[in-house]
Amino acid sequence: MVLKIGVLVSGRGSNLQAIMDACDEGKIPAQVVVVISDVGDAPALERARLKGIDAVHVDYHGFNGKTEYEQVVAGILKDHHVELVCLAGYMRIVGRSLLDAFQNRIINIHPALLPSFPGLDAQRQAVEHGVRFSGCTVHFIDEGVDSGPIILQAVVPVHQSDTPEILAQRILAEEHRIYPEAIGLFARGKLKIEGRKVMLG
Ligand code: GRF
Repeated sequence: MVLKIGVLVSGRGSNLQAIMDACDEGKIPAQVVVVISDVGDAPALERARLKGIDAVHVDYHGFNGKTEYEQVVAGILKDHHVELVCLAGYMRIVGRSLLDAFQNRIINIHPALLPSFPGLDAQRQAVEHGVRFSGCTVHFIDEGVDSGPIILQAVVPVHQSDTPEILAQRILAEEHRIYPEAIGLFARGKLKIEGRKVMLG
């Protein structure tokens, strides 16, 4: 059985690329069936089209608020029979209507070791705080900001000479490794949410 994935993006799409490549190379039993962006000229849309995947721009500003917008997004995902929604550089907070439509079926990647440094500019937060290690986290989405149950994390060192950009590059390499891995675990039925925790196995 191949898991059908929908990916929500807003920008560059390097995580989307890593996910699509892992699927194509047969590393995970999954397939990206649709990519949706709230930004019309997001390079991620082009990456999807190059793979022959449906790539849709849904303009947030064309709707009367988040609920209406998310109903349309959820409709597109359902039309494609999506079983797991992956946020990959999607710059909007997911609201109730999308959460309800895909309960425990929305995951995200964040470029820090949560619960440290949630929200925007996580790599800059880490550099400015002076931590010795940072990393990335794949987690389920809940109503908070970067607060849902944690699936996988990877650690990278933070060097004294690091700029946020240099640290971001080091973290990104790990993102591209653990995001497909987490999707593989989900696809194989290896993730069980128990309260705050995700049990693997
Ligand atoms: C990544 O650093 C991801 O962790 C964060 O946004 C960035 C998206 O990069 N949520 P890309 O669009 O996947 O290249």
